Amino acid sequence: MAENIVWHDHKVTRAERASIKNQKPCLLWFTGLSGSGKSTIANALDVALYQRGYHTFLLDGDNVRHGLCRDLGFSDEDRVENIRRIGEISKLFADAGLIVLSAFISPFASDRRMVRNLFPEGEFIEVYLDTPLETCEARDPKGLYEKARQGEIRHFTGIDSPYEAPSHPEVRLDTSVMSVDACVESLITYMVFRELITR
Ligand code: ADX
Repeated sequence: MAENIVWHDHKVTRAERASIKNQKPCLLWFTGLSGSGKSTIANALDVALYQRGYHTFLLDGDNVRHGLCRDLGFSDEDRVENIRRIGEISKLFADAGLIVLSAFISPFASDRRMVRNLFPEGEFIEVYLDTPLETCEARDPKGLYEKARQGEIRHFTGIDSPYEAPSHPEVRLDTSVMSVDACVESLITYMVFRELITR
């Protein structure tokens, strides 16, 4: 733990940075099983927000794990540290005035709560991809469920590692019954309703 560190308050506030862009910073936190549609929906929402003229930034499990978190694996401890780092990074991007989209399994409720607590009330939007395990497993886009079932990958979420479903997510989406467009539309509607965006 670093000592003798003084926190410098910024002269330009978070709200001032965001006001240049005519937007409100917030974090949309996509959580759900591997294959539930987190990256797909987050990417599609990212495009929709970009087209509406909003400045966003997308953080995604697979690419963050190639860089910032490449020293981490999938033990419980490593997942906690993964989400801690991503929460802090998400907060920095939001402080820079951006609308942040983060797509990580984030299986533990306590970690998601920790990230929520980094944000002012109403600026953390938990988006639960509530797609049934059977659908995720049937999709198996990376062939990882198959490997997990055969014991070639250990601690795989939903197979031999737990996923704690959110009890009160702001938005719940099931991509086994909703199209990508319908998911994006419901997220945009939610954001307009909460006055996070205006168009
Ligand atoms: S988290 O649990 O720490 O939030 P994260 O979202 O960063 O996970 O990474 C998940 C991605 O890593 C999955 O989509 C999958 O491609 C890959 N992966 C590799 N091993 C595992 C595993 N044991 N459990 C879950 N995902 C894994």
